[in-house]
Amino acid sequence: MRILMVGDVCGRPGRQMLREHLPKLRRTHRIDLTIVNGENAAGGFGITPSVYEEIVACGADVVTLGNHTFDKREAMTLLDEEPRLLRPLNYPAGAPGQGHCIVQAAGQRVLVANAMGRVFLPMDLDCPFRGVDALLEQQAGRYDVFFLDFHAEATSEKEAMGWYLDGRAAGVVGTHTHIQTADDRVLPGGTAYLTDVGMTGPSESVLGMDRAAVIGRFLSQLPARFEVAEGKRQISAVVVETEPERGLATEVQRIFIRE
Ligand code: FE2
Repeated sequence: MRILMVGDVCGRPGRQMLREHLPKLRRTHRIDLTIVNGENAAGGFGITPSVYEEIVACGADVVTLGNHTFDKREAMTLLDEEPRLLRPLNYPAGAPGQGHCIVQAAGQRVLVANAMGRVFLPMDLDCPFRGVDALLEQQAGRYDVFFLDFHAEATSEKEAMGWYLDGRAAGVVGTHTHIQTADDRVLPGGTAYLTDVGMTGPSESVLGMDRAAVIGRFLSQLPARFEVAEGKRQISAVVVETEPERGLATEVQRIFIRE
């Protein structure tokens, strides 16, 4: 099976890039399952019902989120209505929505999950490592392949998660930092790992946002309103190939297209 994960879609430019490139990428890489991180898809912060529909219409099977999950009010009900829209699984118990789903692809049951790191992020969620352990225990026997979008800031926490799940996950792919890393590899136990898949959206920006505002904030240390940048765009993604017997990875390939 071939799984495509597209990194943090940022605002309208990101959605346009998705519309222009996703169908072609799915065809050329013979993709069976597409996961898209959409936590910045609505104006850079969060997700709305119409933006979610737009991403699904582009070809996403599962949409993951992160620290901006609840930035838009509508996300609360949307998460409860859409089982394939995932928020980090390590939110405190009682949070709306779900951190995982099981989808059928290439004749196998794929468990897709979203978790969030705790290092250098302004939220104190439950332990993502123990959270994933609990999920795998709870879902044992119900899935053939496991794929995790680990939304985290610190490379150390992400790499630790990759090794922690080596041999248990087909893929551990990082999101959130918006810069694609070059460390894609299949770990010895059979887990495809990439510290960060990168951002889909405006490329002449600071992490997707208008660069003048960001630079101004660094210079002045005053609050500034950030808006999604305009201009040239990029799409960042990764393809993970798995084998049917153990449901683990045989290959991993980064994709980065800049206009
Ligand atoms: Fe994020």
